[in-house]
Amino acid sequence: MRYEPIPAKVYKQNRDQFAKHLRPKSLAVFNSNDIYPISADSVFPFEQHRDIFYLSGIDQEESILVVFPDAIEKMNKEILFIKETNEHIAIWEGAMLTKKKASELSGIQTIYWLSEFKKVFQELSCQCNRFYFNTNEHYRQSVETQTREDRFIYWCKNHYPAHGVGKSNPILQKLRSIKVPEEIKQIQKACDITEKGFRRVLSFIKPGVWEYEIEAEFAHEFIRSRSKGFAYSPIIASGMNANILHYTENNKKCLKGDLILMDIAGEYGNYSSDMSRTVPVSGKFTSRQKEVYKSVLNVKKEATKLLVPGTIWKEFHVEVGKLMTSELLKIGLLDKADIQNQSVNKPAYKKYFMHGTSHHMGLDTHDYGLLHLPMEANMVFTVEPGIYIPEEGFGIRLEDDVIVQSEGAPYNLMESIPIEIDEIETLMNK
Ligand code: GLY
Ligand code: MN
Ligand code: MN
Repeated sequence: MRYEPIPAKVYKQNRDQFAKHLRPKSLAVFNSNDIYPISADSVFPFEQHRDIFYLSGIDQEESILVVFPDAIEKMNKEILFIKETNEHIAIWEGAMLTKKKASELSGIQTIYWLSEFKKVFQELSCQCNRFYFNTNEHYRQSVETQTREDRFIYWCKNHYPAHGVGKSNPILQKLRSIKVPEEIKQIQKACDITEKGFRRVLSFIKPGVWEYEIEAEFAHEFIRSRSKGFAYSPIIASGMNANILHYTENNKKCLKGDLILMDIAGEYGNYSSDMSRTVPVSGKFTSRQKEVYKSVLNVKKEATKLLVPGTIWKEFHVEVGKLMTSELLKIGLLDKADIQNQSVNKPAYKKYFMHGTSHHMGLDTHDYGLLHLPMEANMVFTVEPGIYIPEEGFGIRLEDDVIVQSEGAPYNLMESIPIEIDEIETLMNK
């Protein structure tokens, strides 16, 4: 394992919290992700499903977790099934989890090989009335493939048609949105790794470098810091490319006078970070670039102050819209007529700032969280305003990750990552 794992007691705590929300005589099942094929015998690198990871710390394919608080026998209240390994298999496949190691990582006492799943499940099915399935209910989900979880649900419904069903996802959406200190530590590590990458590229960027070369510098810094790499597909967008919100080609030469928008961050132990910075290719902002940059930074600073317990996500966005509107007026991108002609559904600022300001961040970059519920202490949000001006050939986004605190201002996990104009220019011209 490349990263330092979170102590098993946290996973035990997570399972206990989850179990409290189950109705009586219910059994919940969580599957690992598949390893996805490319073609021939090539596969994509494995990414564990964040829910089984959150509940067990098990970062291996073909694992199944069963949570059954009302099981008759204590040993069946939590069960983990893992892919069989032995000395012979280890020679071919490398060190897979042994039962002992899986138990140490997860805090689960009952560990079986996966081949025993159907037999054990049959026995437990007679003791429960309801299965909790883990369907994907993330507000941004859009999945075409049938996941391992989907296949399990299909199989289970066919084989056990008399059982009732329940949904695990809403429970996890709520639990996972509040981070415990051990999780915050992992997120902080991811942010610190991102900082190393950013500081490295500040002295690397100059006219003539290619966007993919900048991406490579980040990758180098991330991987040598015990990260698997990028937390999401990185955006290195110079000049006009910054106005393509999901630009990930990263294949253009960076030109003197242009800005480069970098939305790029490292992961650590399956926890994300999510950062955006925008810097001048030549190491000096023009006065117009500075003016717009300051507006984005002002909005970011003011928006951050609103991330406090009790804030409703939707209302927060309305307030940020007002902040952005006043900045856009200041820098001449909107005028009075634009404001008079705007409507609630079509605010004028959207012409230059068309995406959301904040999302939950954690095990997933766009993490779980029920957006209609008020913000609570220990939620982690991004703050990422931007101003995109195709007619002027640049776009600016600035993004940090912050923790909502029970009292006072949110804590910025990216506080030490340079963002002020003077600091960026000084570091780029050292
Ligand atoms: N990097 C994805 C986002 O900022 O939401
Ligand atoms: Mn981002
Ligand atoms: Mn983001």
